[in-house]
Amino acid sequence: MYILGIETSCDETSVSVVKDGRKILSNIVSSSKKFHAKYGGVIPEIASRFHLETIVQVTEEALRGARIGLDDIDLIAVTREPGLLSSLLVGVSFARALSFSRDIPLINVDHIKAHLWAIYLEHDVKLPAIGLVVSGGHTSLVYMKAKNNFIVLGSTLDDAVGETFDKVAMILGLDYPGGPIIDRLAKKGNPMSFKFNCAELPDSLDFSFSGIKTAVLYFVRKQSLVPGHGLLGRQAQSTVETNRGPSTVDRRLISDIAASFQNSVVDILVKKTLLACAMKKIKRVIVGGGVAANSFLRQNLTREANTRGIEVYFPSVNLCLDNAAMIAGLGFQLYQMKTQFTER
Ligand code: KG4
Ligand code: ZN
Repeated sequence: MYILGIETSCDETSVSVVKDGRKILSNIVSSSKKFHAKYGGVIPEIASRFHLETIVQVTEEALRGARIGLDDIDLIAVTREPGLLSSLLVGVSFARALSFSRDIPLINVDHIKAHLWAIYLEHDVKLPAIGLVVSGGHTSLVYMKAKNNFIVLGSTLDDAVGETFDKVAMILGLDYPGGPIIDRLAKKGNPMSFKFNCAELPDSLDFSFSGIKTAVLYFVRKQSLVPGHGLLGRQAQSTVETNRGPSTVDRRLISDIAASFQNSVVDILVKKTLLACAMKKIKRVIVGGGVAANSFLRQNLTREANTRGIEVYFPSVNLCLDNAAMIAGLGFQLYQMKTQFTER
């Protein structure tokens, strides 16, 4: 069975062909990232126009890559929610038009559940498990009780973790999306340099990241190492990325801040995930979403969990980020089970 996955929830237009819910034949991702960079975040109008302009081409490329035609497609799976409304609308309308005109069944897929489902494109992980969703717009711990039964145990009360990475990157004068840049710079910094705390919210599986973002902002405001090239200026980007610029001190300081911030965020993600495992007496964790690509999170969560006899599963980096293969994968599963998700 050939499934055409369509994903347009944010700034990536992605179309994928997956065979039997598992074998990825193509997974094309075209991003409008560079058009948002100067604003430091996604501008919905720019994202939706980009989807409109590219979706046909991306679909053709996905079919070509899979060496099949539209007539070979047995099922269309499309991201229905959550996401930017104007972006979702492009993917959903396109999928509906294809489905109607070619008489192909259509299934709606939840983007967040699909992030957790991404692991099944590579591994057959047994359930129950604790799911950790860490994306640009969402952060939650989920009790994955069965393949169609996911129960949210806790979520962020304010900013999502990816959003926090992006905002802190902006404070440091780095490009958008800031997560991968912070990940890279943190490798050169000392995570013990500064103490930026994440709210603990003891005994709760909820998160809060707005405090640490503000702590970094106030700290950075106090620094004015190079007049006109302070940490709040865009100049910091070229200083760090090109190894040129006015000050090595600035460069080192930015890397130390990045490392200290990342250390604290990863620490709270690890602690709460292990707490969820303990509360539910579960020895298996599945991670999904863009921040699951973070090297420090991958390393620390795996190490801390393994010492407690808990297995941790991260998808490959390209399947952590927004992509249509995970939508096709979950779409196939729902179609096979002829069921909707239950959340209790
Ligand atoms: O799941 P995703 O592709 O899109 C949403 O559904 O939101 O996640 C995008 C987020 C962005 O905030 C980006 O900065 C973050 O994932 N991200 C990372 C890394 N790679 C992407 N954050 C930390 N470290 C990374 N290596
Ligand atoms: Zn996502």
